[in-house]
Parts: sequence; C-alpha cells; structure tokens
Amino acid sequence: MSKRAIVTGGSKGIGRAIVERLLRDGWSVCTCSRSEEGLRLMWEELERPGNLFYRACNVEDKRSAREFVNFCVEKLGKIDLLVNNAAMLGERKPIEDYTEEVWDEVIRVNINGLFYITKYALPYVERGGVIVNMSSGAGKRPAPYWGAYAVSKFGVEGFSMLLAEELRRKDIRVYALNPGATRTRMRAQAYPQEDPTKLKPAYLVADFLIKLINSNTPSGSSVDYNSI
Ligand SMILES: NC(=O)c1ccc[n+]([C@@H]2O[C@H](COP(=O)([O-])OP(=O)(O)OC[C@H]3O[C@@H](n4cnc5c(N)ncnc54)[C@H](OP(=O)(O)O)[C@@H]3O)[C@@H](O)[C@H]2O)c1
Repeated sequence: MSKRAIVTGGSKGIGRAIVERLLRDGWSVCTCSRSEEGLRLMWEELERPGNLFYRACNVEDKRSAREFVNFCVEKLGKIDLLVNNAAMLGERKPIEDYTEEVWDEVIRVNINGLFYITKYALPYVERGGVIVNMSSGAGKRPAPYWGAYAVSKFGVEGFSMLLAEELRRKDIRVYALNPGATRTRMRAQAYPQEDPTKLKPAYLVADFLIKLINSNTPSGSSVDYNSI
C-alpha cells in the first residue's frame, strides 16, 4: 500500500495520535483543524516533519473543506487513507431543552463536514484505499441526553455503510470506528468529573486503526476499539 493519508481534526486528541503514528510509519499526512496556530504548534512539537502538511479548515464550511482537500491533493497527489475524525460534542441535555443553534452546528460539523470532505476527496482515493469514519458508542445504541452528537454518530454509521456499498466496485473499504472512552479534551468536556488518568491514551486508538486497515475486516463494518 502506498502511504498517503488525510486526517481531519489532527491537532489534538485521537486525530493527533493517528497523525503521529502514521508519520512514524513513514506515511505522508495532510491534516487540518480550525486553528492554524494549533497546527503549527503541533508541527513544531513534532520537530517539523517534512512529510506532514497542514492547513486550517472548518469542515462544516464547504468552501473551506474543498480548499483543504485541494491543498492535500497538491501535496500528496493521490490518497490511500482518509480518516474523518473531526467532530464536536455539543450539549448534554434532553431534547426538549437542547439549543437549536448548538443542534445545527453539531450536525453541520459532524455530518455535513463528513460529507464534504469525503465527496471532495473521493476522486483522488486510490483503488485499494481505505476510509475510516470516527463514530461513537452513542451512535450505536440510545444515549439519552447526548442529543445532536448521538444523532450525528448514528448518521456516521449509516453514511459509512452506504458508502461502503457504493465503493465496493472500486475496491475502496469503508469502516465506522468507535474508539471507546479515550483520554482527550472532548471526553473531559463530556465527563468533567472523571479521572482522565483512568482512561486509555489516544495512541492506543491510533495503533488499533493501523491494525484495522491492515486486517481483512469486511468493508462496511462498524468496528469497536479492540474488537478485532
Ligand atoms: N475521546 C473519546 O472518548 C471519544 C469517544 C467516542 C468517539 N470519539 C470520536 O473520536 C473523534 C476524535 O475525538 P477527540 O476526543 O480526539 O476530540 P478532541 O480532543 O476534541 O479533538 C478534536 C479535533 O478536531 C478538531 N476539530 C474540531 N472541530 C473541527 C471542525 N469543525 N473542523 C476541523 N477540525 C475540527 C479539533 O481542533 P480545533 O478545535 O482546533 O478545530 C481537534 O484537533 C471524534 O469524532 C469523536 O466524536 C471520541
């Protein structure tokens, strides 16, 4: 497999761990987050790797998403791996109290963003390539009070299954990956009372993702962390 990857939301948390693992394995990686500053800081911390390309992008904005993908294609040529990782949590409230504006934003980022990045990247994804969409346990069984996040992750699951069917003839595999409880900013936001040191570090999710893409897990699978 050639080794050219796009990872969205790569400046922090699970996305960053995936970027770091791919770089260590010799991949060329293109990543984004909303903050140019955050990306630059990461690049500096990683000692300015020549195989890491980054650009600020808000995936909910179709123009920004298209410009980011164009930038990646300029740098990478073709794409062997797309990891749709960027997402936001929103509120943890019952539906009747959920704020309309927050609902809209979560759906725009977690669903529209997934669609835009995938749509723009697809013409460049090579035969034999892999797409991994970051899902959640909240997208697989009812999670009361997780509102738009839970609904969006059910959407990620559905989108992944549908895309897997469409791409079978092109020999491109698609997975929905539920990373499980992981020590990141988003998890701390969701569970402020929790002791983060009790949670697994993000690099274990990155290691599992590598195992997944190198496995013969059927395309269209919804995969939980450590389930293969
Ligand atoms: N952590 C867990 O326990 C857990 C459990 C289940 C599922 N997940 C899923 O795993 C994925 C990663 O989560 P995480 O915990 O690592 O989150 P995180 O720590 O909040 O990191 C999210 C990353 O995405 C970027 N981002 C956020 N909104 C964006 C946008 N609109 N456009 C572009 N980039 C954006 C963030 O950078 P900026 O803020 O600078 O934009 C950051 O780099 C998500 O899909 C999440 O739903 C996580």
